Amino acid sequence: MNLPVRCRVDDGIAILTIESPPVNALAHPVRQALLAAVVAAEADGAVRALLIHGAGRCFVAGADIHEFEAAPREPLLNDVLLRLEACTKPVIAALNGTTLGGGLELALACHYRCATAEVTLGLPEIKLGLLPGSGGTQRLPRVVGASVALDLMLGGTPIGAARAHELGILDRLIGGSDVLEGALAYARELVQARVPPRRLCAASVPGPKPDPAMFAERRARAAREQPGLLAPGYIVDCVEAAGEQPFAAALALSRRRFEECRVSVASRSLRHLFFAERPRAGPLPRPTARRVQRVAVIGAGTMGAGIAISLVTSGHEVVLIDPQPAAVAAGLKRVATILESAAAKGRMSAAEAAAAIGRVTSSAELAAAAPADLVIEAVFESMAVKREVFGALDRICRADAVLATNTSTLDVDEIAAATSRPAAVVGMHFFSPANVMRLVEVVRGAASAPDVVATALATTRHMGKLGVVVGNGFGFVGNRMLYAYGRENQLMLLEGASPAQIDGALRQFGMAMGPNAVGDLAGLDIGYRVRRERKDRPSDPRYYRVADALVEAGRLGQKTARGAYRYEAGSRDPIPDPDVDALIEREAASLGVIRRSFTGEEIVNRCIFALINEGARLLEEGVALAAADIDAIWCNGYGFPRLRGGPMFHADTIGLAAVLAGVEHFAGLYGAKDWAASPLLRTLAGNGQGFVEWDRARTAGARASGGSP
Ligand code: 3HC
Repeated sequence: MNLPVRCRVDDGIAILTIESPPVNALAHPVRQALLAAVVAAEADGAVRALLIHGAGRCFVAGADIHEFEAAPREPLLNDVLLRLEACTKPVIAALNGTTLGGGLELALACHYRCATAEVTLGLPEIKLGLLPGSGGTQRLPRVVGASVALDLMLGGTPIGAARAHELGILDRLIGGSDVLEGALAYARELVQARVPPRRLCAASVPGPKPDPAMFAERRARAAREQPGLLAPGYIVDCVEAAGEQPFAAALALSRRRFEECRVSVASRSLRHLFFAERPRAGPLPRPTARRVQRVAVIGAGTMGAGIAISLVTSGHEVVLIDPQPAAVAAGLKRVATILESAAAKGRMSAAEAAAAIGRVTSSAELAAAAPADLVIEAVFESMAVKREVFGALDRICRADAVLATNTSTLDVDEIAAATSRPAAVVGMHFFSPANVMRLVEVVRGAASAPDVVATALATTRHMGKLGVVVGNGFGFVGNRMLYAYGRENQLMLLEGASPAQIDGALRQFGMAMGPNAVGDLAGLDIGYRVRRERKDRPSDPRYYRVADALVEAGRLGQKTARGAYRYEAGSRDPIPDPDVDALIEREAASLGVIRRSFTGEEIVNRCIFALINEGARLLEEGVALAAADIDAIWCNGYGFPRLRGGPMFHADTIGLAAVLAGVEHFAGLYGAKDWAASPLLRTLAGNGQGFVEWDRARTAGARASGGSP
């Protein structure tokens, strides 16, 4: 049997290799094997020191996050580390690649630490709503002091080897890339010098100095900057305890606090998102993506320029094409201004910005797309215009080029049908501003070839973005759900809730912005145009009536200083406007809508239950491939609160039976046309299941049948 920790003895040094792909996470079998290996090496008379390292690209990327869904299983990592630290022979950690979370805690429990220069190490548990639960809160402050330890744990951002060496976390930096060779030489030096084990848990090693004012300030800042999370305050408590209590007592406190965080909704949500945001590993070998170096971006507006920036900063060469010379010039200027400003703010070096700017050229001719590996069309959101562009691209582009449309709502198959090669066409729905927003919906058309979808996905990833594959259909996943959510916002405006009341209730729920402020930011004319392009537009005269009336009154949002709110010159702060109240009241009266008052809870339930019900429909229809995809899309593209894990995870948290009861309640009040419960929601609620289980069952089913979910 292959154990996840192998041991061989080389001239008195026991080399313990952790080998548990892909990232050597400290799952139960690894902990068992590590404990056994340490005990055996200590007992082996031929061994004078132990050297621990990781096989592959990581030392250890932390505890196994999957295991946090259940109660911890012995041996606990804490106990393994205490036993290792108690070892009577020197234990040396040899770090390579990534060393995170429990991986760094393991290294801190070793007596000496060395690493190659390319190592990154850190305690990112906070990003999962956790605190370092295996001694990190106790051992790290004993090395670097309370303040630096708090910076590392509360920020969660890894540091490089040089900084770690400077801070004393690493004792030795190893030249070259072969950590084992350098670490063995270091271990021999230590053995020769007869150094004793050096234990951070020893009573002789002082904890950080008491500093009540500093801890109080950190606690207050943590509560202000990271509201809704238990972990930040607990990290401060545990580091403070490290200076006030014996090691064992403070360690036990950190363990209890870790458990409280582990079972909290916020941490469960963040852990769910961690996996939802990983590139989905299908059961079959992924089709090979085509190589993409030269990209043509068609349309030099805000979206085209934003896409171009993301491409050139990730090393691609871009030709920005627009038939209007003024638009091309403005697009190029926008690219240069944004990149220069990024350099001025220290986000990239001036040389990197200049090199990126140098990778963009421009043209007024579509023919300039001829050599491109990938074309991304970002022109006006009109089917007629897009079909014309794709018809022309079909004649111009190389036979192996991938043709992507950045449409946000239109039918990708209809666009593909304007070409003689629909298999080469795919959607790449970027979010605005495209150089900032991480999300891209990769839309798989009926004819899109697997390697074309893979190419779009790989390019997205190469740009440092999160690509989620979705099916074709009006609005794909994100915008189709937005229409259900927005529909309820719009109806409640007619029925008597004000824009500020609706936005306030949804912000209180955790949305980054309310729907009315978002509409003003995006421009109300955009949705207006999209609704006119829609062939299946609902005939209900109340449907988006307020938004349409605002546009018809010339209130397009922030760009005209008037939309659902009004705006003072130079300010983006929405100010409630009595003119809007009057406009809505007139519209309601003309439609015969009776106005009444709303509670915040009712507002949230109508918007969020509509969102969940629509999400369930998208799963049934196969437009969304997994509930976790919907969560990744809504948390990264629409400001859904990460601490609730996305709409579908939130539905699981409150229970699908409660969601179904809410949907049925609204169906009784407002009719089945908008509120018919999704059959999937009904089935899962009836079985006492959730969307997470549904995802799991589908993935397992697909694995068994050799297909993709
Ligand atoms: N546990 C379980 N699985 C993990 C994992 C972990 N800690 N870290 C990564 N993985 C899995 C991913 O899910 C992915 O699986 P898949 O192939 O089935 O989708 C695979 O490893 C590869 O991960 P990535 O796709 O993310 O690979 P990258 O090369 O892009 O990134 C990484 C590697 C930097 C290690 C990144 O995965 C990462 O940041 N991992 C999480 C690190 C972390 O948060 N550690 C702390 C854990 S909590 C802890 O240690 C508590 C302790 O205090 C007790």
